[in-house]
Amino acid sequence: MSYNLLKGKRGIIFGALDSKSIAWKVAEKAHEEGAVFTLSNTPVALRFGELNELSARCNSEIIPADATNVGELENVFKRSTEILGGKIDFVLHSIGMSLNVRKSREYDDLDYNYYQKTIDISAMSFHKMIQVAKKLDAISEWGSIVALSYIAAQRTLYRYNDMADAKAMLESIARSFGYIYGREKNVRINTISQSPTRTTAGSGVKGIDALIDFTERMSPLGNATAEECADFCIVLFSDLSRKITMQNIFHDGGFSGMGMSLKAMTQYKKCLEDE
Ligand SMILES: NC(=O)c1ccc[n+]([C@@H]2O[C@H](COP(=O)([O-])OP(=O)(O)OC[C@H]3O[C@@H](n4cnc5c(N)ncnc54)[C@H](O)[C@@H]3O)[C@@H](O)[C@H]2O)c1
Repeated sequence: MSYNLLKGKRGIIFGALDSKSIAWKVAEKAHEEGAVFTLSNTPVALRFGELNELSARCNSEIIPADATNVGELENVFKRSTEILGGKIDFVLHSIGMSLNVRKSREYDDLDYNYYQKTIDISAMSFHKMIQVAKKLDAISEWGSIVALSYIAAQRTLYRYNDMADAKAMLESIARSFGYIYGREKNVRINTISQSPTRTTAGSGVKGIDALIDFTERMSPLGNATAEECADFCIVLFSDLSRKITMQNIFHDGGFSGMGMSLKAMTQYKKCLEDE
């Protein structure tokens, strides 16, 4: 069902790779809600992903960029304002990657070149994106910038590795830049802390199926799906959330508030009986 929540709004969506991507679902919903937007991802993702299909469906131009490259980000913001015919109302940062996770380097044996890449791609790119937008004055008053985070920023989860550090930094950037951009231009900046979700990035974390089962049992409302995450992104882009900024909002079915649930306890007991 569409509510026209983004009618007349212009946006940029970073990070749609394939139909499982959270950013892909956000693009579909933003289109349904009346927004116009551009899509951006790396040249490699454009070769291996399915972005052309989404671009045709949403009538959105694709502007390639490595989000760690300031010059390429400048091009995305300049081109987007030209193509869309005005300043940008919403931006989605849906980008994450760790070579340490991919190559199973444990947290006490990190490769520091990979670690730097993790931080640059998954966190610093958020700062770069916002700084570029602000210097170009590319975002409208009351515009909304959202990035996707994970509860490993606050709590240690086995195997999330150096991505936990990147997410902690990402959430801090939302607060630090949220203050400045809010004070000067009424632009709001938030992060959404999403449940584990089966996407390409999610599946990079080995054991994701067990984690998804655990969080499902622990969450009173069950895990939040990618579609539900997209719904919440739309709310944060819309005028219905104008006074929310500098927040990390858990979108996780209640997982972050739990210690132990009946369903998880029941499963755990079964394992003890098997021993
Ligand atoms: N899947 C989960 O369990 C989960 C849970 C919480 C938060 N998140 C976060 O959601 C976001 C989106 O991930 P997803 O799960 O949809 O997976 P995904 O693999 O579909 O998306 C990750 C995207 O990051 C892009 N990317 C990687 N390096 C880049 C670079 N240098 N420049 C620009 N783009 C680059 C990839 O091309 C891809 O499109 C990430 O920030 C991820 O950490 C995911």
